Amino acid sequence: MRTISVGIIGLGHNGLAHGQAHCALGRSALVALCDRNPERLEAAGRALGVDALYTDPTAFFAHPGMEAVSINTGDAFHGAPFLAAVAAGKHVLIEKPLGNSEDEIAAMVQAAAAQPDLKIQVGYILRFNPVFARLHAHARAGDLGDLYYLEGDYIHNLLYQANQTDTLTGRNWYLEEEIPMVGGGCHALDLLRWISGKEVVRTWAYATHKAFPAMQHDDCQVALFQFADGSIAKVAALYAPRCGMAPYYNLRAYGTNGTVERDTVAISASADDVHPAFQPVDAERVAGHGYEPEILDWLDAIVDDRPPRCPLHDGANSTIAALCAVRAAREGREIAVPVFAAPQ
Ligand SMILES: NC(=O)c1ccc[n+]([C@@H]2O[C@H](COP(=O)([O-])OP(=O)(O)OC[C@H]3O[C@@H](n4cnc5c(N)ncnc54)[C@H](O)[C@@H]3O)[C@@H](O)[C@H]2O)c1
Repeated sequence: MRTISVGIIGLGHNGLAHGQAHCALGRSALVALCDRNPERLEAAGRALGVDALYTDPTAFFAHPGMEAVSINTGDAFHGAPFLAAVAAGKHVLIEKPLGNSEDEIAAMVQAAAAQPDLKIQVGYILRFNPVFARLHAHARAGDLGDLYYLEGDYIHNLLYQANQTDTLTGRNWYLEEEIPMVGGGCHALDLLRWISGKEVVRTWAYATHKAFPAMQHDDCQVALFQFADGSIAKVAALYAPRCGMAPYYNLRAYGTNGTVERDTVAISASADDVHPAFQPVDAERVAGHGYEPEILDWLDAIVDDRPPRCPLHDGANSTIAALCAVRAAREGREIAVPVFAAPQ
């Protein structure tokens, strides 16, 4: 099996976790790391056993022999490294959300269209959770019928982020830049899009700002999404609930032949079977974020010359719908959501 030469830009909590997953998989060679914060960069270099360390992204992207790049900068800082990676002809794994601006996402999709051979995976990690992958398989096999209403929430106490000030800049992007519907809610929305196989075309939303005053953006954002066929989805993103995190986010999907509730599913055996019992989804229960399957899928996509599980246009559609929902709440009106087509 061919070993892929990978570089990582952004060596905070998530970049380090990606690096550790690369080391555990043994399918790639980590050849270079980049972070503008030298302290973090050197610590990551020691932890991951990498000598080529760059604080300057331009020098990093010129590192000889680097085929692929993992982008783990904060949500609002993905755009510049992404455009540089694509211009340099690197395969990319870019963390979700793609960005915090609708225009920037359109520019990223446009730039990548000029490089159709690059394998670009967007880090919608829930697609790699075995329970959600099994639900996706049920939906694709038609077991649930036509999914006409879905809901998924991202309800996660992130009050600790108030303490994550960058030692280099003295800034805290989690408080200043993170948008709950985009940073967290997009995970749930992506799952609903992926399971239903439908595209969002319209959204309306409401928001409040009571539970996490230190955040710049509203800490509770609730959105309705309409799919192209008229089906409906609802997503709530709450960043400061006073409770622990549920093992499985609220996920419900109602189809003409079956229903999903979190990690259980009820499927009608016949037209007369209108009260099928919920059964546990037949899949391994995995706690936390397993980055290995997502990274393995990306590396395999490069080797096998096939699209990764969450290609760029697909991940972009989740992120832009979430951004449109935030604008809907801000402007107090329904917003039409653009849909990026799969490359031909
Ligand atoms: N998939 C998931 O479930 C998941 C989980 C956690 C975080 N994330 C995402 O991962 C990303 C990183 O999150 P984090 O918590 O590790 O953030 P972080 O702030 O801890 O780390 C980001 C790092 O990027 C560096 N950086 C920023 N801009 C840079 C630039 N232009 N050039 C070089 N270095 C730069 C910063 O110095 C910092 O060390 C975010 O987009 C976040 O939403 C995804």
